[in-house]
Amino acid sequence: MPSIDGVLLHMSSPIPGASESLRFLQDNHIPFILLTNGGGKLESERVAELSAKLNVQLTVDNFVQSHTPFRQLVSPDSPDSLADKTVLVTGANSSKCRTIAETYGFRNVVTPTDILVAHRDVWPFEPLLDSVHMKEDARPLPKPIFTPGKRLEDCLKIDAMFVFNDPRDWAVDIQLITDLLMSQEGYIGTFSPRNGNDSLPGSGWQGHGQPELYFSNADLFWSTGFHQPRFGQGAFQAAVAGVWTRITGGHELRRKVMGKPYEETYRFAERVLNSYRNELLRNGTGHVTAPPLRSVYMVGDNPESDIAGANDYNSEAGTDWRSVLVRTGVWTPERGGEEALQGRFKPKMVVNDVREAVRWALQKEGWKGVF
Ligand code: G3P
Ligand code: MG
Repeated sequence: MPSIDGVLLHMSSPIPGASESLRFLQDNHIPFILLTNGGGKLESERVAELSAKLNVQLTVDNFVQSHTPFRQLVSPDSPDSLADKTVLVTGANSSKCRTIAETYGFRNVVTPTDILVAHRDVWPFEPLLDSVHMKEDARPLPKPIFTPGKRLEDCLKIDAMFVFNDPRDWAVDIQLITDLLMSQEGYIGTFSPRNGNDSLPGSGWQGHGQPELYFSNADLFWSTGFHQPRFGQGAFQAAVAGVWTRITGGHELRRKVMGKPYEETYRFAERVLNSYRNELLRNGTGHVTAPPLRSVYMVGDNPESDIAGANDYNSEAGTDWRSVLVRTGVWTPERGGEEALQGRFKPKMVVNDVREAVRWALQKEGWKGVF
């Protein structure tokens, strides 16, 4: 189960051995899924790109990206479904994030660009229009934001906020996210009278029906084509949390974070892997001949997300997750070194690259073939 960035690709360049490793697994019916903290595109779009870059036929059935589990939040079976709630989504291209959210089943999606275009004064400086906030992608707001004199019921109420992938306009996004965290019940433009009231729990902050804030990954760094790791969505999250602590005089930002290393994402990925494996190993008569999944090899480049996540995960099916760290990504002996691999960050094995990771796994599983 490989991470993508730093294991298979550096941006769009395949890492040596990546294509042949995936093709070997595929040719030998060894099930695998790609489990990435990346996002910002529809699964189908990303899978088509990866198949072309890695020259191997991938499908959405063996692919989980950071925000794929958001789909569960609009499941018709969920009693707290957000399908009909109004949500704010942002990311590198908030219009694309809206398309993804609507494909998942969110029916009332607002973006920062919609708000900026409708209320230009919500941000006093020249916003990154045309490069980030594409005016032509903006939609009219379902209701205007609150301004003094308006009745709340006539104003826009946001019920949840989602960061799908790494935003580009951190300033506007942090402004709007914190506006909502300070608001009364998610009405942008209001300021809850409970904020800073020390007689209330948490001094009243985030205590007046403000919308939940969901991040899809916590990676402080990720591995790109540059020789040093670059900021990931976790850096944006730290910026939001830092501004929030400054606003509240020291209170922690309450938020929900998904993606690796969190158990929710590993549980979701294990289910995807099992259903993909069952399909792959179904025999001609339609019966699944394979025994239950015994071990999973999590091949990652980031000790904080890939290694810790696999080490921490207690499989509901009793599957043994084995973490394997490669030297081609975020972690290197020079940057992180052995000190970074203690405790929950300690991999079962450290190898040079994904090809060696596959070789080690095959050997552990007593594979007789040659790779
Ligand atoms: O934004 C992508 C980055 O956070 C890491 O992705 O594939 O290495 O889990 P991946
Ligand atoms: Mg990675």
